[in-house]
Amino acid sequence: MKARLAKLLSPIFGRKTPEGRDLDGVMERAWNAPDYVEQLGKLKVPTMLTDEERRMLVYLAEHTVPEGTAICDLGPFLGGSTFCLGTGLKRAGRSNPIHSYDLFELSPNGADWFKETFIYPFGFERFDGMEFVHVFDAINAVHGDLVSRYTGDVQRHSWTHGDIGLLFVDLSKDWPINDHVVREFFPAVRPGAFVVQQDILYPQTPWLFSTMYLLREKMPIVSYCEYHSAVFQCVGRIGPEDVERCLRANVSKELLLTAIDHFEGVFPYRLQKDYIRLMRTLVEGNPIDLPFWDYRIPPAYHVPLSL
Ligand SMILES: C[S@@+](CC[C@H](N)C(=O)[O-])C[C@H]1O[C@@H](n2cnc3c(N)ncnc32)[C@H](O)[C@@H]1O
Repeated sequence: MKARLAKLLSPIFGRKTPEGRDLDGVMERAWNAPDYVEQLGKLKVPTMLTDEERRMLVYLAEHTVPEGTAICDLGPFLGGSTFCLGTGLKRAGRSNPIHSYDLFELSPNGADWFKETFIYPFGFERFDGMEFVHVFDAINAVHGDLVSRYTGDVQRHSWTHGDIGLLFVDLSKDWPINDHVVREFFPAVRPGAFVVQQDILYPQTPWLFSTMYLLREKMPIVSYCEYHSAVFQCVGRIGPEDVERCLRANVSKELLLTAIDHFEGVFPYRLQKDYIRLMRTLVEGNPIDLPFWDYRIPPAYHVPLSL
């Protein structure tokens, strides 16, 4: 019993490899250990992430980022994910740089709702217009110079900051963006580092399944959150031929369906499997090229699935 408890708690108290990685803790989802939950409390920042996803990001930044690498946050929205990553670094006494990329602009469709739901309840003054970069800056001011932000379509940005020691992806909402992320960011991930695909357990982002299925030898899945996110570990540098196989132009519907079946066997929770089955239905019934927002969820699925 004592040994089991020690094993469970060891990730929190610093069981690290020389480079700072902690695969056991990641696989055990140590961010859910009671002590860790208690230490972090509720991370009250404007974010679309679940409580577990927030703790997962803190944990990964605290325990797994190798020296001499950068953290890359693709799609921080108001800055919540970047804040969690910075919090993890701070807990570890580390100063790896964090590079955050977003449009930092609300879409006119639903902008008022987003402001009322995610921004004003946190004490920000009411503002006109769609840009919200001031919210990101205010939230992450506490992390000072560690954080650099890049505004606009990520497809206009290249990665020029050396090896990535933790990659969080939360903006691959269509095939072309996914192609860009795989082409531009994946080859920079240092073997040993972790990659989080936040949208993987949404039924409308099947390109994430085909990509991670095709890369499964070099980026196997190692962990997940109950909702949405899954964690992969890079075990071999992604090369040009790996990238090429993942691009939209080279993925067939048959391959997508094979990838979906593969991942249905991987995720344990019934709700996760329900989302994956719904993804299969959407992929079977639609053209392969639809972006996230064009998949129409049939009315029968508009109720919570297995909750
Ligand atoms: C679901 S939100 C991310 C949530 C965020 N990680 C958090 O902590 O709350 C998705 C983000 O992706 C961004 N995004 C979508 N397409 C993009 C693009 N082409 N370039 C840059 N950012 C993009 C959106 O602006 C949005 O902030």
